[in-house]
Amino acid sequence: MRINYVTEKKMNLLAQGNIIADRIISPIREFNENDDYEPLVDLMKRFSKEIKSRVMLLNKEGIVISDSYDVLTGQKLDHLEVQEALQGKSNARLHNLKKYGRTIYVAVPVFLGREIQGVVLISSSVEEIHQNIARTMKRFALLSLLSIFITGLISFIFAKVISSPIEKLTDRINKMHQGNLEQKVEVTGNDELSNLGNAFNLMTTKLALVEQQRKDFVANVSHELKTPLSAIKILSESLLHQNQADVSIYREFLKDIDSEVDRLNRIIENLLRLVDLGKNSLELDYQVTYVNYLIENLIRNLKPLADKKNISITFTETEKIQIKLDQIKIQQALINIISNGIKYTPAGGKVDIFLYSEYEDVVIKIEDNGIGIPKESLPHIFERFYRVDKARARSTGGTGLGLSISQQIIGLHQGSISVDSELGKGTIFYIKLPKSIGMGN
Ligand SMILES: Nc1ncnc2c1ncn2[C@@H]1O[C@H](COP(=O)(O)OP(=O)(O)OP(=O)(O)O)[C@@H](O)[C@H]1O
Ligand SMILES: [Mg+2]
Repeated sequence: MRINYVTEKKMNLLAQGNIIADRIISPIREFNENDDYEPLVDLMKRFSKEIKSRVMLLNKEGIVISDSYDVLTGQKLDHLEVQEALQGKSNARLHNLKKYGRTIYVAVPVFLGREIQGVVLISSSVEEIHQNIARTMKRFALLSLLSIFITGLISFIFAKVISSPIEKLTDRINKMHQGNLEQKVEVTGNDELSNLGNAFNLMTTKLALVEQQRKDFVANVSHELKTPLSAIKILSESLLHQNQADVSIYREFLKDIDSEVDRLNRIIENLLRLVDLGKNSLELDYQVTYVNYLIENLIRNLKPLADKKNISITFTETEKIQIKLDQIKIQQALINIISNGIKYTPAGGKVDIFLYSEYEDVVIKIEDNGIGIPKESLPHIFERFYRVDKARARSTGGTGLGLSISQQIIGLHQGSISVDSELGKGTIFYIKLPKSIGMGN
């Protein structure tokens, strides 16, 4: 910047020196004729004012004829600039003077025809330029410092704004790691971070729920397994403590023990079935099946059970329906629901089964006129181990797992199961299976 300024100033002064040299040719001619200084001196002072620089005129011997500062008049100058100008060369140089500071000297020869008549010498200080540039530099430095500081501050604040929620999240995750799953983060705003916070809260809620269900399940399983075991224990202990009991008593107790063992087996079998159905890797074995024949077959198998209780089973079909399904699994689901109908219907009752299409679904309706389910129990009957009447369930041998298994199987077939019941009147189960299932297989 400094070099540019100084170079530009030199060029300007040279141009001005040339102009002055041109304009003083005729006054010089006059001066040469009548030796009158005054007009020349006045003229040089005017030029000096115009260009705001010290302007001198030297004759061809290098003696100062006019000095706008009135200091050097009459003295001979032998500066390099003057010497070069006297040889016909315009020139400009920068000097660092003790008295005036940085100063440019410009010397321009004055020609009259081909002959050099004298030299115009301009001296102009560039101190001001230097000071201006120094001031600008200082300002620049200050501004740079300030912007560095502000940028730093803004980055710091941003970093805090972003890192503090992340720190909180990390803290919660660490707490979860220690086993406390119910962690929540505070969510404010509507940016990516709050989305993350919301997702985190949803995840922990779900995790806590799953964890609770797991604990409940383990507690239920333990309880359900413990009940028959306790019964077996009591039965066998009392047998052991009896001295010389009748064989018939042994038989009776052993029969009870046997049925408790059966019950334990059923529970464990059903649990294993549920675990299997819950496996991610579970693949259904889809086969094209006439639902009509599948149901007829089931009824044939369940008939002896129904006959024992004098319960009639009917099957009403409006059309032949063929879909893809996993026969073994769907049979399991239907057996449980139909046998529920038989189990929870007093002797002499009936179970009616209907098969029909409804839009894109196949509907299997299983209706009984049995004891029904109280309203408050309806939302729970698909839960694992849930039984409306625990005491009686034991006598009927139910484990409370049948409907959970059925629901799982129907869910795996992308179907749905619903129930409608009135206490004392009867119960209807609706099973809907989409006709399009298994199309990909
Ligand atoms: N048709 C029905 N009529 C009346 N109550 C029913 C009927 N079906 C189910 N329930 C009630 O719902 C409960 C849950 O049924 P679920 O089939 O899951 O278990 P369960 O029949 O008791 O045992 P499991 O099927 O494992 O032998 C039953 O205990 C019973 O109280
Ligand atoms: Mg059942």
